[in-house]
Amino acid sequence: MTNVNDRIDPKLVPTRTLRGGEKIPAIGMGTFGSDRFTAEQIAEAVRGAAEVGFRLFDCASVYGNEDLIGEVFQDIMKSGIKREELFITSKVWNDMHGKGDVLLSCAKSLKDLKLDYIDLYFIHWPFRNFHPKGAPPDYHNPDAKPYNHEEYMETWYQMERLQKAGYVRYIGTSNMTIPKLKLLLRDCTIMPAANEMELHPCFQQPELFQFCLDHGIQPIGFCPIGSPTRPDRDKTPDDAVDIEDPVVVKIAKAHNVHPAIICIKWAVQRGQIPIPFSIYCNEYASNIRCVTEDPLTEEEMKELATVDKNCRLIKGQVFLWDGAKGWEDLWDINGEITTR
Ligand SMILES: NC(=O)c1ccc[n+]([C@@H]2O[C@H](COP(=O)([O-])OP(=O)(O)OC[C@H]3O[C@@H](n4cnc5c(N)ncnc54)[C@H](OP(=O)(O)O)[C@@H]3O)[C@@H](O)[C@H]2O)c1
Repeated sequence: MTNVNDRIDPKLVPTRTLRGGEKIPAIGMGTFGSDRFTAEQIAEAVRGAAEVGFRLFDCASVYGNEDLIGEVFQDIMKSGIKREELFITSKVWNDMHGKGDVLLSCAKSLKDLKLDYIDLYFIHWPFRNFHPKGAPPDYHNPDAKPYNHEEYMETWYQMERLQKAGYVRYIGTSNMTIPKLKLLLRDCTIMPAANEMELHPCFQQPELFQFCLDHGIQPIGFCPIGSPTRPDRDKTPDDAVDIEDPVVVKIAKAHNVHPAIICIKWAVQRGQIPIPFSIYCNEYASNIRCVTEDPLTEEEMKELATVDKNCRLIKGQVFLWDGAKGWEDLWDINGEITTR
């Protein structure tokens, strides 16, 4: 049970508007345990997060905890929170792309989450390549292949079917690049409502962020605090540490808060929807409270824009294919899709 003083009225939380005009909370709660936290711990954190005012929850089949989180959603709704007050996302994992499997994956998530519909359903990665849970940094899947647009669209059209049938209300992309999004926008029948992408002060992705806004695609920012507890496979010695950045730390001191709070305020004021994760009540309660009070000044927002180091943390090297040169190949950094 959370402390009553930690609770805030969800109506005080800012909102964003999705294409079509629907409002979505401007902050959500992540549910990926980074191979460190158990499904039980995460499900309890979801319960606590709903108590303190979170209404948006970012789930995924690959996180391996949707069944326990689904039980918590049932309890939350029994406690008086209506289904339509919640905004729940899920994602199809890389081994369930293509005809048939997307529908099966969605059916499994619906069953586990104990829901009649998912609010926003993502394609988790634009590749069919996958790694097993807890994969080491040098894991290599011999069946991995570069991006294939025809295959991606086969998966996207299944996503569209799910939306048309009402199993999901919106569909979205994740871990995409501008060239891949351009092809999707050219060929889709239903536009993506959101793109989930890595966003934190040291990795602001200004071009992709703006591209999404220009096309009515809501950016949802993962690793908003710079993911200090991310899996070891996603850590390299050169990675920037957002919560130790001198500008972030200086502004945190001025507001008398932890640097994590500055990362979240910055994200919400910039316009993405951050989805911070924590199993600790004091952390997740302060993560939502901070977006309702003491905003950053324009000057501080400008200073934080200079913190960008183009430092991607979730490089995705475990998804690389034979012949790929390096993780950069996943991200089309020369503006063209890497197809070999
Ligand atoms: N679409 C995708 O491919 C994708 C990829 C990655 C993540 N995600 C989603 O994004 C969510 C968030 O990403 P993430 O969990 O990697 O990174 P994150 O939210 O940036 O970092 C989480 C860590 O930050 C610390 N933290 C949280 N609130 C804090 C506070 N108020 N004060 C101090 N420290 C705080 C906690 O670490 P301590 O325990 O050290 O306090 C926590 O484990 C995930 O849970 C998942 O839902 C999606």
